[in-house]
Amino acid sequence: MTSDFRFNHNAVPFHGFCCYRFETLGSTQDLLKEWVSQGLAKPGTVVLAEGQTSGRGRPGHIWESLQGKGLWMSVYFQPCIPAEWAFGWNMRLALAVCKVLDALVPSVPWQIKWPNDWVTYQGRKVGGMLVENQLKGSCITDSLVGIGINVDEDAVNSSLPYATSLRGEWKRSTLAEQEPNDFRKEGLLQALLAEFEFMMNPGGDSSKGFNFAVNNPITGGWNVEKIIGDVESRLYGLGQRLPFQCGDRTEYWITLGLDQGGGLRVRSESGELQQTLIHPHYRLAYTLNLS
Ligand code: BTN
Repeated sequence: MTSDFRFNHNAVPFHGFCCYRFETLGSTQDLLKEWVSQGLAKPGTVVLAEGQTSGRGRPGHIWESLQGKGLWMSVYFQPCIPAEWAFGWNMRLALAVCKVLDALVPSVPWQIKWPNDWVTYQGRKVGGMLVENQLKGSCITDSLVGIGINVDEDAVNSSLPYATSLRGEWKRSTLAEQEPNDFRKEGLLQALLAEFEFMMNPGGDSSKGFNFAVNNPITGGWNVEKIIGDVESRLYGLGQRLPFQCGDRTEYWITLGLDQGGGLRVRSESGELQQTLIHPHYRLAYTLNLS
């Protein structure tokens, strides 16, 4: 894929973002990365594909992205925030997406599974996020945010009991025969971009663009502690005993909350031991919580 391919596509301005749509790509994240490295993308550029042949999940994992079955997109931000805010940034993005899921399928209490997934209360995963930041000195200048959300029921492999889709959860949790129109990917995209726009410009002035250097979150009232509190209020498995993978070992811990650096605060069942688990050294395993 050459970068020139971009110019064969209509760039659609959408809530101040500029969306480039493709039928099929290797990975929206890889194409966006290529554009950014070549200076071809502005903050607010969004790359979308109906299908991906090499979708990337968290490091070392593929992300299955069946043609037309989900929303597969990457968004370019220039947050210009201190590097130690990386986790707050990540969580702010995760909250924005969660809010949209709430609006689309309000009958499901959507939760955030540490650190980057959206799941139902039972732990069924509807989507995940891949945030790749670039630093200059101690500042996050560029952030490439890849988002994958399963929309149709057949987006998910039936052999994965913990995977779900928006449509599947809608059917499972409501009696309504009619689906909301917003299930069309267009509606989901629109809602996400509106939420991101609000996140970047809480004062509602989108002329400031998508660069925090202009509308700095420190002056704009962003508060990492509040963000973390908001995430904790919808953190999957809070207060529960959950399995964590550490290499090929499984350890069980009771989840207490998040620390500001992005770790998960946990304690042993007896309460004798408390520690902070760091991702990806520790990974919260997938389990279905049917209680
Ligand atoms: C995860 O849960 O492991 C993260 C999944 C991120 C998938 C999205 S789909 C759009 C974008 N392009 C990619 O190659 N990956 C992200």
